[in-house]
Amino acid sequence: MSENRNTINWYPGHMEKAKRQMLERLKAVDMVIEVRDARIPDASTNPMLLSMVQNKPRVIILSKCDMADPVVTQQWIEKLNSESVLAIALDLMHDPKSGKKLVQACLKIMQPKREKQIARGIRPRAIRAMAAGIPNVGKSTLINRIAGKNTVKAADRPGVTKSLTWIHADPQLDLLDTPGVLWPKFDDPRTGTVLAILGSINDEILDRRMIAMDAIHIIQDYYPGYLENLYESGEVNPNGMLKAIAEKRHILKGEGQLDTRQAAITFLTDLRHGKLGRFTLEKPYEKTEEN
Ligand code: G4P
Repeated sequence: MSENRNTINWYPGHMEKAKRQMLERLKAVDMVIEVRDARIPDASTNPMLLSMVQNKPRVIILSKCDMADPVVTQQWIEKLNSESVLAIALDLMHDPKSGKKLVQACLKIMQPKREKQIARGIRPRAIRAMAAGIPNVGKSTLINRIAGKNTVKAADRPGVTKSLTWIHADPQLDLLDTPGVLWPKFDDPRTGTVLAILGSINDEILDRRMIAMDAIHIIQDYYPGYLENLYESGEVNPNGMLKAIAEKRHILKGEGQLDTRQAAITFLTDLRHGKLGRFTLEKPYEKTEEN
């Protein structure tokens, strides 16, 4: 793993403001929809969120499941599900039913409360939910999907959703959008590493060769032989693999030399867009902390 990512401070002022707004808005909602990236379900959560949400029912969306390993996604769902948490995997990009699936999940997690209201003669109103998640997990895409029109513009850069907006997403669901919040400090350097690999943090300030080598290292660990087959290389060393990628993709600089820096960028771009196959970079049961 490359060092120096565990000490980065993530715009603490912005984060504090988002936290304050979130706490304020939490008072107005019945439940929380937490969006995480199915390829990194642990790193793409925010530990502060769990403490802020307290015991409100939660639906966890594992987004981008079309690019994640389906077997591992199922394992994550089993791990995350509990009495007050319902985890579902969604392909927000291609599945036209993903909005409906989310509404169904919200109705299901709120069912006990709604049944109590009905028993007391109260007709349940539309569920009020807050959508939250770190940048780039797909919150805007989810809101667009559920609202059926471009209520929120999907960002091509992390962290664009800044203001808070109520969205009448469905007759049974009102949605409150919130800004993405990343915690100010990563305790576990691996968290920063996998976020950087998937482009969820601005990688312009980071060494992309190092990020690509970290990615190669993790994929070789979890999916042995996969990259070796893909790039027809016997290289086990991440640096050697970058050379193999440059060779296979004919990425050269002047005088026919292999350009491993450009190869790293190409590799990361392809990986982030699911062009190399379906990977999950974090497995459940490796950590013991709460979900
Ligand atoms: P955010 O509001 O949480 O910051 O995320 P946003 O919706 O902007 O989504 C980030 C990127 O992820 C977008 O791509 C979006 O299209 C893509 N995305 C979201 N959900 C899914 C999904 O379920 N499957 C797939 N395959 N892609 C999804 P983008 O604007 O092109 O950005 P980028 O991919 O270049 O980062």
